[in-house]
Amino acid sequence: MTQSDPAALAADHLAGNARIDEAVAAIVDELRTAQATLDGARPASAALAESYQQWIDRNATVRGRGAWYPYVGSGVGRGPLVELLDGSVKWDMIGGIGVHLFGHGDPELVEIAVRAGLSDLLMQGNLQYNGDSIEFAELLVAEAAKRSRLAHCFVSNSGCMVNESALKVCQQKTGGAPRIFAFAGCFMGRSTTMSQIGDNAAYRQGVPLNALVDYLPFFDPALGERSIEMARWHMEQQILRYPKQHSCLIVELVQGEGGFNTAPREFFLPIFELARAHGIPIWDDEVQTFGRTETMYAFERLDLGEFVDVLTLGKMSQACACLFTAEMNPGPGLLSGTFSASTAAFRVGRRLLERMRDGGHYGPDGGNARLHRAFREGIAAIQGRHPEWFPTVPLEFGRSTDEVVGGIGGMMRFTPFGGDKAKVMRLLHTMFEEGVIAFACGHGPYHVRFLPPVGVMRVEQFAPVMEIVERALARVAMEPAETA
Ligand SMILES: Cc1ncc(COP(=O)(O)O)c(C=O)c1O
Repeated sequence: MTQSDPAALAADHLAGNARIDEAVAAIVDELRTAQATLDGARPASAALAESYQQWIDRNATVRGRGAWYPYVGSGVGRGPLVELLDGSVKWDMIGGIGVHLFGHGDPELVEIAVRAGLSDLLMQGNLQYNGDSIEFAELLVAEAAKRSRLAHCFVSNSGCMVNESALKVCQQKTGGAPRIFAFAGCFMGRSTTMSQIGDNAAYRQGVPLNALVDYLPFFDPALGERSIEMARWHMEQQILRYPKQHSCLIVELVQGEGGFNTAPREFFLPIFELARAHGIPIWDDEVQTFGRTETMYAFERLDLGEFVDVLTLGKMSQACACLFTAEMNPGPGLLSGTFSASTAAFRVGRRLLERMRDGGHYGPDGGNARLHRAFREGIAAIQGRHPEWFPTVPLEFGRSTDEVVGGIGGMMRFTPFGGDKAKVMRLLHTMFEEGVIAFACGHGPYHVRFLPPVGVMRVEQFAPVMEIVERALARVAMEPAETA
C-alpha cells in the first residue's frame, strides 16, 4: 500500500501475501500429518480411561446432567472419522446432527478458517459486518432464486432463531394472525415458542402454552391418496373454524426429528394451494434438509419453489438464515440481533455451499443419491443375513410396515427391532462403543438416524461402518429382553 494510491486498503497487505500463504500451507501440512494415522475406527486406550472419565464428569458437573453420549473430541478428525480424548476413533454418522457435512478437519475448510482468523472480527453482527456476510447471503439468495421467488436473506445464529424470525415475518404480514398450521411430528427448535410448535410433549414440559397450533397429519405412504385427502380436510376444517386467523403453514419437506419422513409433491400441492387461496404464508423449514437431499434446497426436488414465501435453513450452512420473498419483506426493526455469525462460519459456509453445488453432489445420480443407495444396500445386506433383527414394524391403527430403511440423500434411517424405543436406544449406545456415532429419529416407531458427511464420504466407506452396525446389532439382539 502506498499513501498516494487512493484505492489502496490496509487489508490489501493480507491478500495474496506470500508469507501468509507459506505459513498457512505449513499449518495445513501439519494438520495432514496429525490426521494421517486416522484410517479407521479404533477402540479407546486404557491409558486414557481415567483422564477421559474426568472429562465426562466435569462436563456432567458443569452442565448439571450427564451427556447422551460419553463424547469429548480431541480436536482432530479426518473426514468421517473423529478422534475422542479417550483415544478412540469413530465413524461420525451424525455430524453434530447434520452440521459437519464435510466431516472433520477438511484441509481446505481449515485453511479458510485459519485465514478468517486474521479478520478484525471474530463475530460479525447486524450493525457491523464485513463483505463475508454479504457474500454469504447473496449466495443463498442466488441459489434459491433459481427456482423460487425468494429474494432476501437475514442471517442469525441458530436454526431456532431464524425460525423465530420467520414466524415474526409471517405474523407481521398477516396482521398478527394468532394461529399456526404445522405438521404432526415437526421439530423447530427450543425457544419458548418453537418448543410449543414442535410436536413433542417432553420439549414443552413446564412451558406456559401461548401458541395456538393446528396440526395436520403428515403423509402416510400406507394410506396413499387417503392421506392427502385427510391432511387437506383437516386444514379446511381449521380454516372454517378460524377464518383469517392463521399466520403461516410451516412445513419440513422431509421431516427430520419426526423420523425422516418423505412425501411426494402430490401431497403438498393441494395443501399449499389451499393455504395460498386463503392468504396463509407458506414457510419451508429447511434447517435439517438444506444441502442434504438430491437438490440444494429440498423444494427444488419437488418443484414447489413458487409456493415458498419464507424459508429457514441452518446446520450444514454453518450460519443460519431466514429467506423471504419481496412481498414478505418486513418493516424495519422486526429482524435484528447482535450476532449474525463468525467470520470463519461465513467463509467456510460459503465455500462448502460452492463445493456442494459444483462438486456433483446433487441430482438423481449425484453424490448424495449414490451414498444413499450405498446405505440402503448395506442395511439390506445385513437384513438378508439376519432378518430376525428386522421384524415387521407396528404402526398406528393396527397397521404395520416391512420397510426398514428410509429417508433421502444424506438423510438416512433404518428401523431394527420393530422400531422398539428401548432397543434402538441400546443399539445406539452399543454402536457408539463399537465405533459408529448415530442418533435416533421418529416418535414411535423409533429409527436409527444417519446424517453422514456427504460432502467428503466415499461410497466404499460404508463397508466398515456397516460391519460395526452389524456387530452392534448382534450384541443388542443377544441381550436378555429386560436389559435390551
Ligand atoms: C427442522 C428443524 N428446524 C429447526 C431446528 C432448530 O435448529 P437449532 O438447533 O440450530 O436451533 C432443527 C434442529 O434440529 C430442525 O431439525
